Amino acid sequence: MKVLILGGNGMLGPWVIKALDERHEMLVTDITEKPDGLKHDYLQLSADDLDGVVRAAEGVDCIVNLSVLRQDRKLAFDVSTRGNYNMMVAARTHGVGRVINTGPHYQLAGPQYEEWDHDLNPDMPPAPGTRLYAHSKALGQEIVRVFSERHGITALTLLYYNMKHTWNLGGPEKEPDYHDDMTPYSTAWPDCGTAIQCAVEVPEERLASNCETFFVFPDIPHRKFRNDKITRVLGWRPRYHVEALWNKKMRTPPSGRHGA
Ligand SMILES: NC(=O)c1ccc[n+]([C@@H]2O[C@H](COP(=O)([O-])OP(=O)(O)OC[C@H]3O[C@@H](n4cnc5c(N)ncnc54)[C@H](O)[C@@H]3O)[C@@H](O)[C@H]2O)c1
Repeated sequence: MKVLILGGNGMLGPWVIKALDERHEMLVTDITEKPDGLKHDYLQLSADDLDGVVRAAEGVDCIVNLSVLRQDRKLAFDVSTRGNYNMMVAARTHGVGRVINTGPHYQLAGPQYEEWDHDLNPDMPPAPGTRLYAHSKALGQEIVRVFSERHGITALTLLYYNMKHTWNLGGPEKEPDYHDDMTPYSTAWPDCGTAIQCAVEVPEERLASNCETFFVFPDIPHRKFRNDKITRVLGWRPRYHVEALWNKKMRTPPSGRHGA
């Protein structure tokens, strides 16, 4: 498959490239310059450049949008909302059959859900709240949904909580390394990348519709955020878990910071 990646030069990009490497041909794009050592085709391209995104999508089979701008009000909408519009126009223009959209969990499960509920799943009605990052991404997701419905483009949105890669996230047999900003909802970077690979490669017949959303979470015992849909439908399995955080046998972490 030939895959166009938008915003491929950020934190997640290299893990996606690693997961797709040698399985797919890639055209990586980002507003920044080509990173050293990248062996795939590269184009410096802003996701808010409609003509540029349309040109870049010619001849590709799948577009993966990893671009995001979290802070500035205008730029956030240009990148996180209009970037998705541009991706969908490009897909429609060239008959690209599949797009993969990404974002944070709270573009769907905003504070109204997150602060009060558990068993949260990616098919709940979206309630992103008013935070700029969540709101601009949620509007982008809605644009993806409308194009998908109107133009028969398969659109898979992957929502993450927090990503970490230098951590040992532990497992049944070993404790994690503890860090100040550790949250039990963290997904290790390699797992974040393979989730995109699963979305790129999942056969159409496994999908209930051509527009589906998935939470990308490790296995968490209380299931506040559920990952059963992504494991069942996309066949993704997280390799890193945080079970030791929930295990009564856990030893006291360094300096007792995380013991409560
Ligand atoms: N990092 C996390 O912990 C985390 C958590 C939840 C969700 N996500 C989602 O994962 C995806 C990737 O996030 P990330 O952590 O790699 O973000 P990042 O900020 O590291 O990377 C974003 C990339 O977008 C690029 N970009 C910015 N403006 C652009 C523009 N105009 N045109 C093209 N590219 C532009 C940046 O140069 C950067 O390379 C995003 O959709 C984000 O919302 C990330």
